[in-house]
Amino acid sequence: MTRRKFFETANKIFGFFLILLGVFTAEDKKKKSAGEKIIIPENLNEGFNFIGNVIVVKQSKTLVAFEARCTHLGCLLNRNTGNKIVCNCHGSEYNINGEAIKGPAVKSLNKLVIHTDKKSKNLYVYV
Ligand code: FES
Repeated sequence: MTRRKFFETANKIFGFFLILLGVFTAEDKKKKSAGEKIIIPENLNEGFNFIGNVIVVKQSKTLVAFEARCTHLGCLLNRNTGNKIVCNCHGSEYNINGEAIKGPAVKSLNKLVIHTDKKSKNLYVYV
């Protein structure tokens, strides 16, 4: 095998592995961007429902979902007092629309898109 032939072959092999690496990296990013799938139970209470990393607000027949992470420093939000969500870490408060109404948080909660499973009709979000 000539030196030239050797480098041509090595280049092809190297290129092939780069393509494979790109495919696997793209697949990995795709999986990560989808996030964790959380199924919303049917028997929700009126008002706030804390479901792991998700808050679902039910007002009559309307559902709105938020990521249950405080926009100040990211503490898990898991309680409400009356019609306000209260952060246990530094006391930020959010209203029923997810808007910050008391600091230190200034940003609204991250709203999540509610999907419907075509077969089971279950509602779910990605967080
Ligand atoms: Fe919620 Fe600081 S993390 S108020």
